[in-house]
Amino acid sequence: MARVFSGIQPSGELHIGNYLGAIRNWVELQHKYESFFSIVDYHAITVSYEPADLRRRTRDMAISLVAAGVDPARCTLFLQSAVSEHTELAWIFNTVTPLGELERQTQYKDKSSRQESLLAGLLNYPVLQAADIALYKSDLVPVGEDQVQHLELAREIVRRWNTKFSVEFFVEPKPFLTPTRRIMGLDGRAKMSKSLGNTVGLLDEPSVIWEKLRPAVTDPARVRKTDPGTPEICNIYHIHQAFSPPETVEHVAQQCRSAGWGCIDCKRVLQDSMEAELGPIRARAAELRATPELLDDALSTGAVNAKRVASATLGEAKQIMGLR
Ligand code: AMP
Ligand code: TRP
Repeated sequence: MARVFSGIQPSGELHIGNYLGAIRNWVELQHKYESFFSIVDYHAITVSYEPADLRRRTRDMAISLVAAGVDPARCTLFLQSAVSEHTELAWIFNTVTPLGELERQTQYKDKSSRQESLLAGLLNYPVLQAADIALYKSDLVPVGEDQVQHLELAREIVRRWNTKFSVEFFVEPKPFLTPTRRIMGLDGRAKMSKSLGNTVGLLDEPSVIWEKLRPAVTDPARVRKTDPGTPEICNIYHIHQAFSPPETVEHVAQQCRSAGWGCIDCKRVLQDSMEAELGPIRARAAELRATPELLDDALSTGAVNAKRVASATLGEAKQIMGLR
């Protein structure tokens, strides 16, 4: 059976970009494959942070994931820092990773340009990511488009390690993308991202969502309600495609092209479609928040399961390498 692994940084609550780009696939895949999902706190410490804040964001991410449908009874959900094999294999992989490949990573270039001092941990971020996946010998990695480059590097690292020791031990992972592999922010300018402040939170109240949707950028050709639009270039239409039933999507497109509706009408319908999916998620999140011990138990069980698989893989790899 194919194994699935994916990770997400403990950035607090999920936003609809993470949700549509990756987490919805996690929820699907956990029913079909043996799945490992990790909140990657060792990745999160590669930029400056406050310990108390990291703790809160980690908890909020766990709540968001389980509320969104990641079910600890169907998959292995755990905190990366609870399974020390991740950092141990990352060290091993550092010894086969070309520096030039690390320096070429787009996310490294973006993030390092925003930091006052450059840390080796930020450069080596994708090496830890490769180790995360390799420990579980996963072939499928459900992620958004921004992670494709990291996965290419992960394949390269695994290939180099296998070649160096003349074995086919680690598995080359492949990205598994959703139809909405890249959600734009509501400013329509860049991808939806916490650091850009252009997100819709998965747990936002309807009134908050509406305050964000109302001024959101649409097709710039629609200055007046009577100006016809092109749905395919409109970010709101793309979000409709992710949340609204096919008949509604069709109707929305037709009303946009014929200038039957104004953009506000279209956004109201979107709000309703979003609420149908997000309302129950918000309710589950509130329940989970009220029972923190259940979540802690689930994460501890997850860490035990993950550690069992990870330590077996690491033990074999070390033996192949002539280590203890
Ligand atoms: P991160 O919050 O950066 O840890 O991302 C978690 C997951 O969400 C990764 O698989 C990303 O590729 C995905 N993701 C993040 N932002 C977006 C976005 N705007 N559109 C689609 N997927 C995204
Ligand atoms: N780098 C990923 C992100 O920012 C998170 C991540 C860490 C990950 N390890 C992973 C994703 C392993 C998939 C597989 O979204």
